[in-house]
Amino acid sequence: MYHIKKEFEALIADAKTEEDIKQIKAKFLGKKGKVSELFKQMGGLGDEQKKEFGKNINKLKQYIEDSLTNKQTQIKEIRKKESLEKESIDVTLPARRGFLGSIHPITKTIIEIEDIFKSMGFDVETGYEIEFDRYNFEMLNIPKEHPARDMQDTFYINDNVLLRTHTSPTQIRVMESKKPPVMFISPGKVYRRDSDITHSPMFHQVEGLLIDKDIHFSDLKGVLSDFLKIFFGDVPVRFRPSYFPFTEPSAEVDIGCIICGGKGCRVCSNTGYLEVLGCGMVHPNVLKNVNYPDEYNGFAFGLGVERFAMLKYGIDNIKLFFENDIRFLKQFS
Ligand code: DAH
Repeated sequence: MYHIKKEFEALIADAKTEEDIKQIKAKFLGKKGKVSELFKQMGGLGDEQKKEFGKNINKLKQYIEDSLTNKQTQIKEIRKKESLEKESIDVTLPARRGFLGSIHPITKTIIEIEDIFKSMGFDVETGYEIEFDRYNFEMLNIPKEHPARDMQDTFYINDNVLLRTHTSPTQIRVMESKKPPVMFISPGKVYRRDSDITHSPMFHQVEGLLIDKDIHFSDLKGVLSDFLKIFFGDVPVRFRPSYFPFTEPSAEVDIGCIICGGKGCRVCSNTGYLEVLGCGMVHPNVLKNVNYPDEYNGFAFGLGVERFAMLKYGIDNIKLFFENDIRFLKQFS
């Protein structure tokens, strides 16, 4: 019995893992283990001896069980300590740098445009990207046979529903829901079947509308000239007669080329000017369509946000806005 105890103590002292414990347990307390063997030896003993021997075996058994449990707890504790040490955080390490995102150049341009018009008293309204043909065309005095409705340009969802090709339907939406006077701009996404280095099938426009009594073309000229000079800096601004179905008279607005300073270059096709806006006095048919009283009139305008951003920041390919290459976007933080 003494040898068994010594053997056990040597093994348990060396035990390092739960697996070691399991094996030692089996070796001593298992069915064919050393302690069980001892019990078997009791057979040939007399009553008195048997009692004494049995007591001692039980004592040994208890001792082995207790030692195993103790050792197991010890091993568990060591494991825990080791894993805590491994997982511990060194708070003295230099912190990892946080990366800040930046505002997308299109959003940034829209915010700049909004801020200028807000400072003049314009509200900001939103429209719908999925529109009725009626709002995108008909109510804006664009009749059924107008080339702007060509299947080449418009993404139709069905005969009556489409992806808006411009932000102008917002004019109708706002005038239908608000009594005059109204004075707002409305930025948003528009869609056309068009794709090259200056055209993208989805792009952004900002629409503008001002309706009140006694509005003249000079009001339109004043507001848009001021806006362009604030946005682009002190550039020459010129108004050229043009045509839009929803305005009469209509004009396109040019600024002196900001790339070459008006000398003539590739960007301005050697004209010294860049076209940046469409505008005009709201067509009487449009005002009639929304049942505005006769004494009201006003002006409207529309501009392409990508074009404004490309000119202001010297970007030569519209695709750069939508690839979202972080090296490009980072420049606008
Ligand atoms: N909707 C026109 C376009 O997409 C832009 C435009 C021109 C809007 C003249 C207007 C305007 O409100 O008066 O090309």
